Amino acid sequence: MNTYDYIIGDSRNVEGIFRKKKIENPDLIITSPPYFDVKNYENNKGQIGFGQDYDAYLNDIINIFQKSYDLSSSHATFWMIMDTIRKDGVTIPLPFDINRELSNQFSSTWRLKDVIIWNKTKNIPWNAKGRFKNHFEYIFFYIKDERFKFNIDRIREISDLKKWWLTYPERYNPKGKAPSNLWEFITPIRGWGNGYLNHFCPFPFPLVERIISISTDENDLVFDPFAGSGSAIAMAYVMNRNSVGIDINEKYKQQFEKEVLIGAQKYWEIRNKELKLINEKIGQFKSTNEKLRKNKLGSTAVQWVKSSLINDSNFIFLIIEKDKNQNEIDCIIVADGKNIDISSLNKKKEINDLMRMFRIKIHWKIIKQQDLLRLLSNINFYKYNFREFHQYISAMTIEEIILEPDKIEYFFSNINLNIPKINDIFRN
Ligand SMILES: C[S@@+](CC[C@H](N)C(=O)[O-])C[C@H]1O[C@@H](n2cnc3c(N)ncnc32)[C@H](O)[C@@H]1O
Repeated sequence: MNTYDYIIGDSRNVEGIFRKKKIENPDLIITSPPYFDVKNYENNKGQIGFGQDYDAYLNDIINIFQKSYDLSSSHATFWMIMDTIRKDGVTIPLPFDINRELSNQFSSTWRLKDVIIWNKTKNIPWNAKGRFKNHFEYIFFYIKDERFKFNIDRIREISDLKKWWLTYPERYNPKGKAPSNLWEFITPIRGWGNGYLNHFCPFPFPLVERIISISTDENDLVFDPFAGSGSAIAMAYVMNRNSVGIDINEKYKQQFEKEVLIGAQKYWEIRNKELKLINEKIGQFKSTNEKLRKNKLGSTAVQWVKSSLINDSNFIFLIIEKDKNQNEIDCIIVADGKNIDISSLNKKKEINDLMRMFRIKIHWKIIKQQDLLRLLSNINFYKYNFREFHQYISAMTIEEIILEPDKIEYFFSNINLNIPKINDIFRN
């Protein structure tokens, strides 16, 4: 049974709170600290940022992050979500200053692994000389050591595939595309329940979901030292993780219990249905991509044999996928009376490079025409143009292939692919 705990306290005392409450080592820390003195959080005297000078502020923040480092598990990751701010007409690069101070002041500390731009897609209208409308925030992604969790396969996507997925299947991971470091998530303005969410900058659930999916497994512990609305701990809880959040303001805890937790539950219910559909689509993409790669590799390899080794109109090129779960194909050359040395094909650099690129192994076979019926009559073949390996021309039996007058112009494969070039199966 998973748990969540929204603790009212001062994060400067994070070790004391963890000790007293016997909290275990967090596996993920996700947080957005106060943006220096930009906002006054409920006039709270213990708040960090508002009423402090910049050095005292930086000092408090990095000490909390360092204590969180000491408390966390060895495979933990830390995701800091922050923006720059403007003060007296000058931009202060908050996350960069925090990052610099962390590494300057602690010899063993969080290691910055990547910087992600969170495109919020919209923001309040803004017009001032020397400033552009602010559309993004930074996500600084830190690790503790190289054993960090990074389940990138869980967040692969297949929407918005470029048109090349059909003609260059070898360039695509069959499990889908890994997202870039530009993330697009709309900021929630209204609450997640029926009310109005009265917190300054709540994390969007989909953003938190992505980070939790990448860097934790079920039952891991997620920690937010500046919990605010509590969206991070609510999402962690509904995703079957344990979670702990600390915030200095009691009011936000009430809001968390009344609204945010329920909102997260509702979001996760709908999202689970969506994820099921996405996974089905990824499954279809995977099997189509694997078929495309096998057919394209077979077609390219036998074309190479056709152009470089032999020149005879009687040859037949057959490609056979024996087991769709294995990355192997048979490339059969029907080459009566011709002496084709299979071991030389196996050694050819061009062919080996292709196999590496496609991540598929070719087994070369030479068969005599007279043996075809006996060996292959139970297989359904499809006739393809060499360059149109994604769409067959007609279904054929081996008897029909033998009688085909222009057989040298085609290859014949048992892989059934009939995808028109202009299509949007995996594009939306
Ligand atoms: C930028 S907000 C966090 C927003 C949060 N990520 C969310 O999803 O709503 C910063 C939070 O830090 C809290 N805070 C300020 N000083 C604190 C302190 N000393 N200890 C704990 N929390 C503090 C504020 O009350 C505020 O909720």
